[in-house]
Amino acid sequence: MKRFILAGALAICGALSVVASPTDSSRIDPAFDYHSYANVDEFRTTHLDLDLRVDFKFKTIAGSVTLELKRLDPRSTQLVLDTKDIMILDVTQKSTDVLGATAKNQTIWVSRPFHLEKPDRILGSALVIDLPPSKKATESIKIDYETLETSSALQWLTEKQTSRHKPFLYTQSEPISARSWIPLQDTPQVRAPYKAKIRTDESLRAVMSAENDPKAKRNGEYHFVMPQAVPSYLIALAVGDLEFRETGPRTGVYAEKSVIKEAAKEFADTEPMIQANEKMFGPYRWTRYDILVMPPSFPEGGMENPRLSFITPTVIAGDKSLVSVIAHELAHSWAGNLVGNATWRDFWLNEGVTDYMESRIMTAVYGEQRSSMEAVLGVKSLRADLAKLKPADQVLAIDLRDRDPDDGFSYIPYEKGRLFLNYLDAKFGRERFDAFLRGYFDHFAFKSVNSEQFMAYLQENLLDRFPGIVSRAQVNTWVLGPGLPADAVLPVTNLFQPVDAARGAWLGGALAAKKVGPDWIAQQWLYFLDGMPPLGASQLAELDKAFALSKSPNAEIAHSWFKLVIANNYQPGYPRLEEYLMTIGRRKLIEPLYESLMKTPADTEVAKRVFAKARPGYHPETVKAIEAIVVPKEETSE
Ligand code: BES
Ligand code: ZN
Repeated sequence: MKRFILAGALAICGALSVVASPTDSSRIDPAFDYHSYANVDEFRTTHLDLDLRVDFKFKTIAGSVTLELKRLDPRSTQLVLDTKDIMILDVTQKSTDVLGATAKNQTIWVSRPFHLEKPDRILGSALVIDLPPSKKATESIKIDYETLETSSALQWLTEKQTSRHKPFLYTQSEPISARSWIPLQDTPQVRAPYKAKIRTDESLRAVMSAENDPKAKRNGEYHFVMPQAVPSYLIALAVGDLEFRETGPRTGVYAEKSVIKEAAKEFADTEPMIQANEKMFGPYRWTRYDILVMPPSFPEGGMENPRLSFITPTVIAGDKSLVSVIAHELAHSWAGNLVGNATWRDFWLNEGVTDYMESRIMTAVYGEQRSSMEAVLGVKSLRADLAKLKPADQVLAIDLRDRDPDDGFSYIPYEKGRLFLNYLDAKFGRERFDAFLRGYFDHFAFKSVNSEQFMAYLQENLLDRFPGIVSRAQVNTWVLGPGLPADAVLPVTNLFQPVDAARGAWLGGALAAKKVGPDWIAQQWLYFLDGMPPLGASQLAELDKAFALSKSPNAEIAHSWFKLVIANNYQPGYPRLEEYLMTIGRRKLIEPLYESLMKTPADTEVAKRVFAKARPGYHPETVKAIEAIVVPKEETSE
């Protein structure tokens, strides 16, 4: 119970401000998850069994979860779980010593008293279950529950919002939304295998971050097993009118019929990507790797749900130019899913290591030129964030106490993390560094690590083994210090020079737009557009005429174009911009556009009007994020 009180006390301190200042890093406990109420020192989940019904009419998930728990303290009389926007109907405990049940080999479920604590805006409500003290090593607790319509993990799409006129439901649990559809110990410190029975409409197919059977009959009842231990944020479910197509011996694509063919073509290199990564960093340990193509409203580019990455359809450009997202989510099968962050402060251990591996996969499969351009663009995004963020938020091991971990989101854990690994790679040499990473994945397989554990392992297995190359102080500067260390090893490319030259020539009137970039790839176009100075309407018209930018099938290029449309108030571009904001829910693509619109009073009106229309089609987390941009503080309910 101690931990629960501590977390609760901190939340209260946070509300009163100053006491637990986020910059006071000296007081942070790196082993403590400030984003969970679970008393993991007393009980630890060892298995979950889900029995759920997905009801599209009432937009609820209802049923039960049975948690197998290891009891760490015989004196404990309370089990504390995380919940948010869930209705708890009943809590029962499996009992073998009531009324001679053991003798008759019967299982008896005994009701237990429970209550929900006052909800915290970010963390939700602690579910406190009273239990008798016990010398038993394990406990089984069954919770009957029903989700509310406000569940932050769930997006319910109506028939009208999908391509096939069938509804769609999906979950997005990372970072702390698993608790909004399953009451559980919602902390990445705890890992457990799970199984599930999902019932839903007969015409729909359910898939999970587990063993999926593409040949399973569509009959409204689906069974899943995830034999490997996974953290709660990797439990995922989607239900829709899904078809399956194989792309290799252990890879395939699930999607609605309208996109399945294009998707299978776009993602045809998944098997070569797996093989490239296995060669560098050890075996793929999750049997199959499938891709689920999400509805356009999916808030992320991708989500690394084990065995089944959830991927935005905006990655399908027709020319494989954006498949680094696949390399990224695949790399999480090692960094994150196999060896994962222990708390959200350690998020860079998931994303930075993954970004580094993503680059390595892209180099192996598509060559150095393409991956170096992607890496240079990444550093550009990092520099923009460094210019905006306060020093305390520029560190890799970020202090997120009293904050929603989603609000601490930036390119720092991704790109600075990637550069840290690039630096170690350059200093120690490829062979030693790859061996180190392989050893790290083996050593911590199916466990979680925090930043301090990572640094200790790094010291023992790299710094001390090859002394005099990198000091502990240098590592500390990378992980705990702000900014970019002076000796960072930055990616370079000579493929942006011709782009700079062409942009200069076009701006100076020496080159017609239609003569620009006949052989450029998407990354060069992004660099071309992102580097534009203020432009006039006739210049924008010339660009759009030459390259049909406002109709670009490449969602990233279209995004860069719309940034120019807004920055230069190019009115002919607004109707397509509006369509884009109405159809796409990927936060990375739409948040910057809303932010940019908010810079002038006239465009503020556009932002508000479009958001009001688009809102019902966005995921709840996207709504929250856009609301924070578009609705002035005093208008929000808090
Ligand atoms: N795990 C993240 C997505 C995520 C992060 C969800 C934080 C919720 C909270 C995923 O692996 C990711 O990083 N996606 C990126 C894609 C990428 C290629 C950098 C995205 O969605 O843009
Ligand atoms: Zn990621």
